[in-house]
Amino acid sequence: MPEGVEQIVTAVPTGAALGAVIEGVDLSRPLDDETFAAVHAAWIEHGVVVFRGQTLTDADFVAFSSRFGKLDHAPIMENGQTMVDGVPELYVISNIVRDGKPIGSLGAGEASWHTDMSYEERPPKASALYALEIPPEGGDTCFLNMYAALEALPEDLRRRLEAASVRHDSSVNSGGYLRAGFDEVVDVSEAPGASHPAVPLHPESGRPVLYLGRRLNSYVEGMKVGESEALLDELWAHVEQERFTYRHRWQVGDVVLWDNRCTMHRRDPFDASTRRRLHRTQIQGERPRAA
Ligand code: SIN
Repeated sequence: MPEGVEQIVTAVPTGAALGAVIEGVDLSRPLDDETFAAVHAAWIEHGVVVFRGQTLTDADFVAFSSRFGKLDHAPIMENGQTMVDGVPELYVISNIVRDGKPIGSLGAGEASWHTDMSYEERPPKASALYALEIPPEGGDTCFLNMYAALEALPEDLRRRLEAASVRHDSSVNSGGYLRAGFDEVVDVSEAPGASHPAVPLHPESGRPVLYLGRRLNSYVEGMKVGESEALLDELWAHVEQERFTYRHRWQVGDVVLWDNRCTMHRRDPFDASTRRRLHRTQIQGERPRAA
């Protein structure tokens, strides 16, 4: 889109439990304040926003992500790298192997439901993915509306959770890979990682929301391990219902931005002989506060 042409933002709801497709915005150009305010409002309302058909350099993608706040440095990738092409904010999600070494993380397997980097004391409030190579089949990313999951919880379970804190394990990533420098967790009550309220208040929408991180090695503080496992199993069986989700079928050039404070996401497996490559940024957030 040429300089000086007004961008008229339209947010079209996906029709699923969350998410909207934003039309009329070229992310390779700096967003003016009005356009940014419209995109930001849509993101808070829908939890996930999708922009199709973008052509971005790494610098464009970082600049767009930075409009939402300071960027976190990416976590260590499975190949031990902490940055890509000299850009510490970029994380590569890919199954591609170059010169015998994976260029990124998560391979071609399933990535289980999670919220990015929730094991940090101050987890990123948002993440964005930019699709560079997409396989012909598989590798869809599903998103889950954690406001809706909380609102549909049985009242007694919700009350138990309102006083609870959950430990978010940092030893494994969502592909189930043990991170460099960590030991395998044998007792979840000793898992490394930050604890957060199970029902924090979203700082921008003001709404209470369920905040779970990921299931593996998760632990409800202060409970016996068996009791914590039973509560978490009940909770996860509830949240993993299709009625709370949106399925994103990727196209090259898609940018998807999601709110880590009120959504979770997972990724379908795909044929390992096909190529998938996306760049991810993560935008700094604050410590979750109980509702
Ligand atoms: C992620 O969990 O951040 C990556 C999801 C994906 O590969 O689609």
